[in-house]
Amino acid sequence: MKPLVLLTQNSKMKEILQRLDQVIDSDSSILLIGETGVGKELFAEYIHKKSKRALNPFVKVGLSAIPSELLESELFGHEKGAFTSASTERKGLFEIANTGSIFLDDIDDFPLSLQSKLLRVLESKEIMRIGSSTTIPVDVRLITASKIDLKELVEAGKFRLDLYYRINVIPVYIPPLRERPEDIQLLLEHYIKHYAPEKTIKFSDDALKLLIQYNWPGNVRELKNLAQRLAIFARDTIRPDDLPLEIRVENPVQLIVKACKHCFLGDGMDFNQVVSCLEINLIREALKNTKGNQSQAAKLLGLSLSTFRDKMKKYQLDNNHK
Ligand SMILES: Nc1ncnc2c1ncn2[C@@H]1O[C@H](COP(=O)(O)OP(=O)(O)OP(=O)(O)O)[C@@H](O)[C@H]1O
Ligand SMILES: [Mg+2]
Repeated sequence: MKPLVLLTQNSKMKEILQRLDQVIDSDSSILLIGETGVGKELFAEYIHKKSKRALNPFVKVGLSAIPSELLESELFGHEKGAFTSASTERKGLFEIANTGSIFLDDIDDFPLSLQSKLLRVLESKEIMRIGSSTTIPVDVRLITASKIDLKELVEAGKFRLDLYYRINVIPVYIPPLRERPEDIQLLLEHYIKHYAPEKTIKFSDDALKLLIQYNWPGNVRELKNLAQRLAIFARDTIRPDDLPLEIRVENPVQLIVKACKHCFLGDGMDFNQVVSCLEINLIREALKNTKGNQSQAAKLLGLSLSTFRDKMKKYQLDNNHK
């Protein structure tokens, strides 16, 4: 198994890990909550590997990738002949995970129709394969992960409240990368070294500033992909020009804030004038930030190139981005 690397210098993250350590050897269910790429799967592995179950199986189940009609048999198994395609008996993932931990990823995708069955298995600690009338005891530690607050699904009637209580014994909220700026340089340096051990690569102050300001919607996964690219292309020092466009330029929200300042300078402007002024300034800021590259500027504003060009024409704007 690959070695587990869970890096952080952020005090909130360290606190979370300390609190986790206190419950790691209990059998309580843990629910990991966090945006895409924050490290939910890594935390699940960390919990298993630090627990007393570490030498026993760890079974990961990506719930969103399993068609709902196959899910029951995947999780709980089936006997030979239980349904048309069941030509042999098959153990379910809960049985395979016996004595170890099971990680149900994307639990928010768990179909409502199977939720009561899952709850029964968790409460009784036994499963019944499809087509069988005997129960099999299973001893598993449950770890689940969700990108959204399950409480919202409960309120929307898509998630059973009793199941929610059963899996939410220990909720762990993993903060997004933009809320832990200390980790950005640490993780980048770690992963660049990982992908290019022979190189010594540093960041210029300007580049580092941009990387820390960026909002990292894809969190550590996005950072890791960038590190891989930088490890291939960078020489010794990474400068702003080496960074991808979305990191190098200000984001649209910052552009709007800047553009607004220009708009509200004019007293007595009516609604249409303010909107036109805002559009003009947004286009100018976007062109400035992309050195006059219209397709990049359009992308930055979330417009198609043709809409962007129509607006340039409407306001008789030229490509002078200075
Ligand atoms: N603190 C960390 N230290 C080192 N590597 C990390 C850290 N957090 C995440 N990673 C790495 O970032 C990548 C994404 O993490 P992971 O797959 O655990 O995220 P996730 O929350 O499960 O994402 P998704 O919701 O998209 O499934 C993995 O390769 C993981 O090893
Ligand atoms: Mg994941």
